[in-house]
Amino acid sequence: MQPKKKAPKSKAKLLTVKDYQRAAKQKLSKAAYDYYRSGAESERALSRNEEAFRRLVVWYRVLVDVENRDLSTKVLGFPVTSPILIAPTAYHKLACPEGELATARAAQNSGTIYVASTLSTTSLEHIAEASQAPKWFQLYVHKDRVFTQSLVARAEESGYDALVVTVDTPLLGRRLRDERNGFSLPPGLEMANLSSALVEQNEDASALSHYVANRHDAAFTWADLPWLRSLSHLPIILKGIVRVDDAVRAADAGIAGIIVSNHGGRQLDSAPSTIEALPAIADAVGSRLEVFVDGGIRSGDDVFKALALGARAVLLGRPILWGLAAEGQAGVENVLKLLTEDLSRVMALAGCKRIADIERGMVTVGASS
Ligand code: FNR
Ligand code: LAC
Repeated sequence: MQPKKKAPKSKAKLLTVKDYQRAAKQKLSKAAYDYYRSGAESERALSRNEEAFRRLVVWYRVLVDVENRDLSTKVLGFPVTSPILIAPTAYHKLACPEGELATARAAQNSGTIYVASTLSTTSLEHIAEASQAPKWFQLYVHKDRVFTQSLVARAEESGYDALVVTVDTPLLGRRLRDERNGFSLPPGLEMANLSSALVEQNEDASALSHYVANRHDAAFTWADLPWLRSLSHLPIILKGIVRVDDAVRAADAGIAGIIVSNHGGRQLDSAPSTIEALPAIADAVGSRLEVFVDGGIRSGDDVFKALALGARAVLLGRPILWGLAAEGQAGVENVLKLLTEDLSRVMALAGCKRIADIERGMVTVGASS
C-alpha cells in the first residue's frame, strides 16, 4: 500500500465569522481570547442570542427583479453602504497593535459607522483623526460627573456625530473566565480615555470589573437624562434596552435612537435574546426613534431577520474583534464584506432589491421549532 501523502499546508480560506473566530483564537493569548468571547455567568444569554436567530425562517418571494441590489441606507440621517455597523467594544490593541485606528480606517473604507468605546486603548481624539467617516462615541456615565462631562465635550470637539450611552452596565456582569485568568490589560496598554484615572487592582476580580464597580454611576436614572442631553448638541442613542416600557420612556425623553442589546450576553445571564425582544419594541417606538439591534449576528441571514423584525441597522461586536485579531484592518474590512455580500445574496434569494423591501411578515418563528 502506498503511504498516504500529506496534503500540502495551504492557508485556510476565511469564509465565515466562525472561520475568523478560529483564526483569531490562534493569534490571541488565552486571557485576551477569553475576555472577547465570554458571556456572563453560565453564558446562557450569550448562546440565547445566537440560537434565537436559528429558530426564525424567511418567507421568500419569487419572480422579483433582484438583479441589481441596493443595500445602502441611512442611520440618524448618515448614509451608510449597508445596514451593518460596528458596535463599541473595549481594548482593540489586545487584538492587534494598531487597535482602534485599524477599526476606524476599516469602517471608513467600508462606508460604515464605528462606535468607539469609552474603554478604548486609543484616545477618542486619535480615533477621530483616523477617519473622515461619520463616527459615534459610546459613553459610560461615571460617578465623577465632571469627568463624564469632559468625555462628552471631548467627543463633540473631536467631531463625533452621536453619543451612544450604554445603560446596561451599572456594574460589570460576572465573567468567570476573566476572574479565573485574573484578566487585566497587559503592560503597555491603557484605557486611553481615562489615563488620569487610577485603575485599581483587586485580587478577587478582574481589573475591569473592579474599575466599573468603583467608577460607573450605578445611581444614574431616567431623571438624569436631561442633564446628559444638556451637555452637548449630539443626538443620544441608548444602548442596552430590552423592554418595551423602557423604549417608550426613551422616546418620551427625546432620545434619537435605541439599541436593543443585552451587551452580547455579558451582563444579565437571564436576559432575553435581543432578536426576540426587537419586534415588540419596534412596533411600540419605531415611528418615534430609530431602533437598532445587536447580539449574536453572525451572517447576512441574521441581518436580514433583524431588519425584517424592525431594526434600521445592526451592530457587530465579536465578529469585528475576530477580524481585527486575525488580519488587522484588512480583517475588519473582510468581515464587513463577507456579511454584506451574504446579506446581498439573502436579499436576492428572498426577493428583495432594496433594504426597504425587507418586510415584517417575511420572518416568523419556524413551524418546526
Ligand atoms: C463589548 N460590548 C461593549 N459595549 C459597550 O457599550 N461598551 C464597551 O466598551 C463594550 N465592550 C465590549 C467588549 C467585548 C469584548 C465585547 C464582546 C462586547 C458590547 C457590544 O457593544 C455589543 O453589545 C455586543 O458585543 C453585541 O454582541 P455580539 O455581536 O458580540 O454577539
Ligand atoms: C465589557 C465592557 C467593557 O463588556 O463593556 O467587557
